[in-house]
Amino acid sequence: MGGINTKFGLLSEEYLFREIESRRVAYETAHPAERIISLGIGDVTLPLGRCVTGAMALAAKEMGTLRGFHGYPPAFGYPFLREAIAGAYAERGVTLSPEEIYISDGAKTDAAIIPQLFSEVPVLVTDPGYPVYRDMGLLSGHRVRFLPATRENGYLPLPGDLEDIPQVICLCSPGNPTGAAYDRAGMETWVAYARKSGSLLVWDAAYAVYLPSDAPHSIFEIPDARFCAVELGSFSKSAGFTGVRCAWSVFTEEVLFDGQPLALLWRRLKSTSSNGVSYLTQRGAEAALSEKGREECERKIAYYRENAARLSDCFFHLGWQGLGGDTSPYLWLECPAGLSSWEAFDLLLTRVGLVTTPGVGFGQTGEGHLRFSSFARREEIMEAVRRLRRVFSK
Ligand code: MLT
Repeated sequence: MGGINTKFGLLSEEYLFREIESRRVAYETAHPAERIISLGIGDVTLPLGRCVTGAMALAAKEMGTLRGFHGYPPAFGYPFLREAIAGAYAERGVTLSPEEIYISDGAKTDAAIIPQLFSEVPVLVTDPGYPVYRDMGLLSGHRVRFLPATRENGYLPLPGDLEDIPQVICLCSPGNPTGAAYDRAGMETWVAYARKSGSLLVWDAAYAVYLPSDAPHSIFEIPDARFCAVELGSFSKSAGFTGVRCAWSVFTEEVLFDGQPLALLWRRLKSTSSNGVSYLTQRGAEAALSEKGREECERKIAYYRENAARLSDCFFHLGWQGLGGDTSPYLWLECPAGLSSWEAFDLLLTRVGLVTTPGVGFGQTGEGHLRFSSFARREEIMEAVRRLRRVFSK
């Protein structure tokens, strides 16, 4: 007898950010006069760059002509965008063929389907970690194992004494939610472990633009990664594309799992599950990678970095322990007064009018923590700082 996927029973009732949204809406409805500031979901607030909107407007005009009309996009992306992304990697000394880059509508979409490439392989995720790796690993029938990311290991777990068995290992650097970023030595350790154990690294680099320029931004800066890693990248947090939707994955021709070339299976999976990303969007993304586009992105990133610095300064004055903000748009804080994540979430919502993300939503090890996003308007950050200081200063 068939039925619904019983693995839903392993998930929480709501996806983390939907649950937060429901609580925010319920609170706002009950307190219409209060001005709530959202530092919860990492959703950008600055408008798209002029270079991007110009390219998209031009693409829209083209689409209104017989010659310039485009139907279904190529399944893995237009060559112009795949080439532009390969060009950006080349500037960091990473050689990728444009055919090894696959365009999608989000790193989340790619992370969600990767588990379908495997059958009954352990999926290893950091705890805390981005909930999509865990939830989609479970839904696809894999055993999900957790690697604790704690203050003791600098929130950057290493393979240590992990057994040498093939597994799918999901790592995000700089990390969501902690903001901690692996250095070259850490990345080399993971690549060496993946090679030795026959494992695959799923390297989520969605926040890499927040790293200092001399830090490694891509797992492919470690040469052997070509054989044992795939990478996810995104325009969401660099070019402000959370609402436009454009991202990419890298599957090299050499990456194997269980002796099988994964790129072949990835092409099969992607062309079956998606019809790609619109021409307008891809022209916008291409423009974001142009010289002018990059200047615009840099200005946005600097703005969010400054937001993060102001929050970080506030937490330092309040004596709250945590990290992040310097290499990532997120700050990861231990809850004040020993509160649980949801207790602290409620306290901040009701006393400060601030929406945050409860750390436990990212895994049990995240209990007792909160994540703050710096993707807000400056005046909101300043107001949040004022309120936090008023309520929590001793
Ligand atoms: C986040 O805030 O972690 C992400 O932007 C939310 C998501 O991708 O679901």
